[in-house]
Amino acid sequence: MKITTADFTISAVSPKQYPASQDPEIALVGRSNVGKSSLINKFLNRKGLARTSSQPGKTQTLNFYHINKAWYFVDLPGYGFARVSKELKARWGKFIEEYLRERRQLVGVIQIIDIRHPPTKDDLAMYEWLVHYQLPTLIVATKADKISRGQWLSHVKTIKTELKLDSQVPLIVFSSETGTGLEELHRWVEERMDR
Ligand code: GTP
Ligand code: MG
Repeated sequence: MKITTADFTISAVSPKQYPASQDPEIALVGRSNVGKSSLINKFLNRKGLARTSSQPGKTQTLNFYHINKAWYFVDLPGYGFARVSKELKARWGKFIEEYLRERRQLVGVIQIIDIRHPPTKDDLAMYEWLVHYQLPTLIVATKADKISRGQWLSHVKTIKTELKLDSQVPLIVFSSETGTGLEELHRWVEERMDR
């Protein structure tokens, strides 16, 4: 997919603020600091468009990016960030859930998992939730540059086993540093657009 334009549209804290457009949307979910915003930047080849940080909890709102004036990437706040209050966590959870459950423009969800570690309880809960709501899902095992290529397969196996990944659900090994898996990612997004 050729990226001609990529514009930040809005940082939404309530459904009223979501874009009024009917364009399809692809959402990114994953633990705080796993690399959601970095993946967006790599995908778009726009370095600072989505704000990234080595501090977890950078993205705290739903951020909409309009791509080629045709579809949106929606960067969601990360889950599993310990340094926020229970109340705030519950509110975030509800907010994210509401979006994923009710947004009719949503055509696919990219769940990002750190390839280095087995999925967390939160990762598993998220995945089961996506299965339950039958949202077309892509699993991205990111930060692949942090382990040797020879370890990829066994780490991917662990992720598949622990999540009890359905054989229909695609998984891509990815790195925002090196661009590993970028072509496959583009292909999956394109497929979602032609649905
Ligand atoms: P929140 O907004 O806090 O939920 O985090 P996020 O999931 O958007 O993560 P972000 O993209 O901000 O990345 C977090 C940190 O991980 C940053 O320091 C990134 O540079 C780093 N990072 C992200 N992806 C990769 C990757 O593929 N390889 C390496 N080596 N570092 C990465
Ligand atoms: Mg982020």
